[in-house]
Amino acid sequence: MPEKSVARGQWKSRVGFILAASGSAIGLGNIVFFSANAYRFGGGAFYLPYLIALFVIGIPVMILEFGLGNFTRHAFPGSLSRIAGNKGEFIGWWANVNAAFLTMYYITILGWVLGMLFGSFGALWKTSVAIPAFGLAEGDLANPVAFFFQMLSTWKPVIFVAIIWFFNILIIRKGVETIEPATRIFVPLMWIFMIILIIRGVTLDNGIHGVYLLFTPNFSVMKNPAVWQGAFSQIFFTLSLGMGTMTAYASYLPRKSDVTQNSVITSLLNCGFEYIAGLAIFSILFACAVVPQASTLSMTFFILPRGIGEMPAGVAAFGILFFGLLLLAGLTSSVSLVETVVSSIKDNFGWTRRKTVGIAATVGLIGSACFALPQVVNPGLENDGTLGLTLLDLMDHWVFSYGLLIIGLSECLLIGWVYGVDKIRRYVNSNSRIQLGRWFNVLVKFVIPSLLIYVLAISVWGEFHDGLYGMDYADNYSEGYSFMRSAPIVVFAFWIIACTVGGVILTRKGEFKDHE
Ligand code: TRP
Repeated sequence: MPEKSVARGQWKSRVGFILAASGSAIGLGNIVFFSANAYRFGGGAFYLPYLIALFVIGIPVMILEFGLGNFTRHAFPGSLSRIAGNKGEFIGWWANVNAAFLTMYYITILGWVLGMLFGSFGALWKTSVAIPAFGLAEGDLANPVAFFFQMLSTWKPVIFVAIIWFFNILIIRKGVETIEPATRIFVPLMWIFMIILIIRGVTLDNGIHGVYLLFTPNFSVMKNPAVWQGAFSQIFFTLSLGMGTMTAYASYLPRKSDVTQNSVITSLLNCGFEYIAGLAIFSILFACAVVPQASTLSMTFFILPRGIGEMPAGVAAFGILFFGLLLLAGLTSSVSLVETVVSSIKDNFGWTRRKTVGIAATVGLIGSACFALPQVVNPGLENDGTLGLTLLDLMDHWVFSYGLLIIGLSECLLIGWVYGVDKIRRYVNSNSRIQLGRWFNVLVKFVIPSLLIYVLAISVWGEFHDGLYGMDYADNYSEGYSFMRSAPIVVFAFWIIACTVGGVILTRKGEFKDHE
């Protein structure tokens, strides 16, 4: 190993690490995306595939990602380079480019959330303004929806997005030294917010029926491959896997850390939160007789606000609570995404944190601003409770349904077949109370890769069979605005080229410094 050694931050306590890792995992994915996905597959039908995905894929991959970081004390590209050479490093950078895209649009969504939070203090629950930019007359839409569209038709989201970036920089400026205290406050706070929302939700008249829907199993949908595709993507996303985020966080752990137990605790905290968030959301929607929506963004910005707007009392207070919760949960996740990229670049090029954060935030802000103004792409945004075709939605499709799974698959193959999963398993076992048996090798070498390949193959087949994602929508634009028709292809090409070219260029560009 090279002799060079530079000081590397370290978590002050195990609790601090677990709070930060669970803060990364608990985010928008837990509160709104999970409910939207669960609803799409019939509520209770989603739970079994989801739980299987958690135990068969989620926790084992979390052990791998934590293990890699703790073992190599490097961010993702550096640690994969250690165990699998250039091939590994390429995957690490490929993941980083995906993480950069995710960071940009995740922060865009948080910018919109901030706008809705400001709005909740007044205008949001009252306005019913005309929005000429979207061809909407006064009274066309329920208030929160009108408010949202009105906000989107202005430049305000760019300012909100800049504010969110500013908070990210503030929290990340000294690495774990500043991330740890922030998550120590934010994470407990969001549990409290969530518990208040649940109590309110299930005590509303009829609220309990939403809970029934969420927990009534339906085994027949399990034959549908789309359910598994949804469950696998959701488990990667919600646990912040498949981006190297957990590797980056675990690289700041002291040498002798209990990786297995940390993985189990983090995963269970996350999925526990998701489970109870489902209770709050479905009960509120049912009590207020609002039909949930399968699309994640409409769930966040139209459906739930509409549900809250129908509450018998305290509408503004619950609106503030809901958007405040999303903001807290989202910030502790976006910080981890920014740290994923920052730590990789820092490790690789030996730049100072200040310079790395400065450059990453500037590029990131520009990206988030592009995602924030959907009308630039799609001037006739839909008003039926979806956002129509946006850059954000198109990019999310490729990162969420493919990027995460491809990276998870590559990770398992590199560790399982190139480096040797037994070495990682023995390392992890040497400091862990829970001992991983040989079954873990079988899982990493055969079971997880086969499942991921199956689901990816089905998805790719779907793109060919049903047409590229977004094409059916874009076909509506047969005349006029021509970018709309090519947007699905342009975004797909941009995604695949950016990841691959980024991966090739960055591999072997700098040198990794050793940290002890
Ligand atoms: N887990 C977060 C959520 O549920 C999102 C997130 C943060 C994430 N970091 C990630 C997703 C890394 C994938 C990879 O909202």
